Amino acid sequence: MEKLKITYYGHSTFMVESADVKVLFDPFISGNPSLTKDFNLDEIHPDYILVTHAHDDHIGDLLSIAEASKAMVIGTWEMHVWLNKKGITNTHPMNIGGTRLFDNLQVHMFQAMHTSSFSDGSDGGSAVGFVIEMGAYRFYYAGDTGLFSDMKLIPELMPVDFAFLPIGGNFTMNATYAVKAAKFIQCDQIIAMHFDTFGYIVIDHQSVKDEFKQAGIHLLIPEHGYSYQLPLK
Ligand code: NI
Ligand code: MN
Repeated sequence: MEKLKITYYGHSTFMVESADVKVLFDPFISGNPSLTKDFNLDEIHPDYILVTHAHDDHIGDLLSIAEASKAMVIGTWEMHVWLNKKGITNTHPMNIGGTRLFDNLQVHMFQAMHTSSFSDGSDGGSAVGFVIEMGAYRFYYAGDTGLFSDMKLIPELMPVDFAFLPIGGNFTMNATYAVKAAKFIQCDQIIAMHFDTFGYIVIDHQSVKDEFKQAGIHLLIPEHGYSYQLPLK
């Protein structure tokens, strides 16, 4: 089976690559105070950038990478309008519940329980998550969110092979609720995000690993600059 390659740039920033498409999620690299690797933004060439919401720790490098890579940026209507005002015009607006096929990439925009305002005060619309189909895989990228029971719709409507879930707490779910989320989405292959970047979201790695292990769920806590091959097991 074809493998996916997943590269971690810290916080919630991941590149997911299949043989024919590269998708970057929530680019926030140069402003990350906890990065343990130097990344050259010019070497990041996604075909698509998917953005979950307007907070700085998700769009910090969005304008520069979008401009340099000419990648299509997919986000809410409000994200699209804001980007267009900033001169980024290769954008595609969606909204919650929408699904669309972009060549080899199927994008479902899903709800998230979070807020979304730009630091300049502009309205970012709703915060969202995504269910993505690329290559032979379907996966969930939750974005910033608390636990919500409608996650149970995911296995019913579009079962996923693996999922990116926030585990840092304070602004999002913590690990305990992420275990619950994994059960809601009926997925035992989880990649952790949104942890350790700032003091508010520092986690105890061992206790997080233990919690997932006890629940029988495989958890990958990714390391900055490392690439992983999916499937995890
Ligand atoms: Ni946020
Ligand atoms: Mn965040």
